[in-house]
Amino acid sequence: MHGENKKQWWKSVLPECQPQTRVLSAGYDPELSEMSVKVPIFPTSTFLFKTAEEGERFFYLQNHPEARGDGAELGLIYSRMNNPNMEIVEDKLMVFEPGAEAAAVLPSGMSAISTMCLALLKPGDVIIYSFPIYGATEHLFEDVLSKFGIKAQAVFSSDPEEYQQAIEKHKGHVAMLFIETPANPSIVHTDIAAIAELAKKYEKSNGRILVAVDNTFMGPVFQHCFPLGADLVVYSATKFIGGHSDLIGGFVVGKKSEMTKVKSYRSVLGPTTDPFCCWLIARSLETVDIRMRKSSENAMLVAEFLKDHPKVAKVIYSGLLEKSDPQYAIYKKQCCGPGALISFNIKGGKAEAFRVLNNVRVCRLAVSLGGTETLISHPRQMTHQNLPEEMCRKVGLTDSLIRISVGLEDPRDIIADLDQALAKM
Ligand SMILES: Cc1ncc(COP(=O)(O)O)c(C=O)c1O
Repeated sequence: MHGENKKQWWKSVLPECQPQTRVLSAGYDPELSEMSVKVPIFPTSTFLFKTAEEGERFFYLQNHPEARGDGAELGLIYSRMNNPNMEIVEDKLMVFEPGAEAAAVLPSGMSAISTMCLALLKPGDVIIYSFPIYGATEHLFEDVLSKFGIKAQAVFSSDPEEYQQAIEKHKGHVAMLFIETPANPSIVHTDIAAIAELAKKYEKSNGRILVAVDNTFMGPVFQHCFPLGADLVVYSATKFIGGHSDLIGGFVVGKKSEMTKVKSYRSVLGPTTDPFCCWLIARSLETVDIRMRKSSENAMLVAEFLKDHPKVAKVIYSGLLEKSDPQYAIYKKQCCGPGALISFNIKGGKAEAFRVLNNVRVCRLAVSLGGTETLISHPRQMTHQNLPEEMCRKVGLTDSLIRISVGLEDPRDIIADLDQALAKM
């Protein structure tokens, strides 16, 4: 049994160890599962109550979050509300999130973002967001939330002054600043601490402003947002956290006050992550650190190769930022590694870019990122196809841009593959 009966021995046994050690045991007590070393899967939709009184109490605690204390944890009732595999994977992610108080697993990155927004925003609120941003996130903010009376305003630069202007414009109504950093696919870093400071500064004149960060590109290994002042973090666990391009998942992470609402909305709206998917993500979290570090090492080599290539006009990679670039200081302040995402402009347009994409043999021509294999795509005509041309032009999202998510192949093979594909340009 988990839920109320979870003993949480792992919390007392290993508190002083490093995250990579703790993640192996976090969230799971073998004594509760026949001493199985590895986490079992609990494919059940419902849970037995020992007595009717217990069932009544579990429902009371489910319906009255304020009555839950440390000694009165939520019992297991029904798998749309909770399941041991959901709890285990949430506890494992928490190992990598210093400063966070709770995590909620969701069946996709988009369900994490949409559930968070529906739980924490209300009609009349304004959400200010960084642009460029993942295409579906923009669609959610601009076209879906507007149906519920929530306004969205994009900021086209990482300059905090532009965020300040946007807050001034909507003062009194701003409820959330949502930043994707680094951004997809421009790899532009936004200063999380500066944005959090801005939110604080306007608390009196505007009311509380939540700072939410999409940490999919760098987290949970290279970027930790809570010590920088973020209130919420969202992930597409489909990417580095899942790490094998074989599942779709997501997380919202934050303080108890916000996460209680997010979990309550998750129960009501119904985006449930099935036990097997939770189990797969939990298993992947055991290797996320080693996978992200290796793919980042490989990406550095690939970026250096691309930088010197005669057919490449520009390489955008955090590991290549010059000290004189204002982005360098932000990157150094908030990231402890450059990650696996590289964007580069070829000397040409759509036809030349497509020729490169159509000639790769080791890299896989597919969207998404963070898998064991190297993925290569054309953001403007694929993930960001639906975005207005004017918005894209403002941030350099053009037809000459190719994005690579570097995987775990031998880097020499990735480089040789890109070299032969670029030769066919
Ligand atoms: C930065 C970022 N956030 C969110 C998402 C959405 O995640 P999912 O596809 O898991 O819903 C993606 C997907 O590519 C992404 O790249």
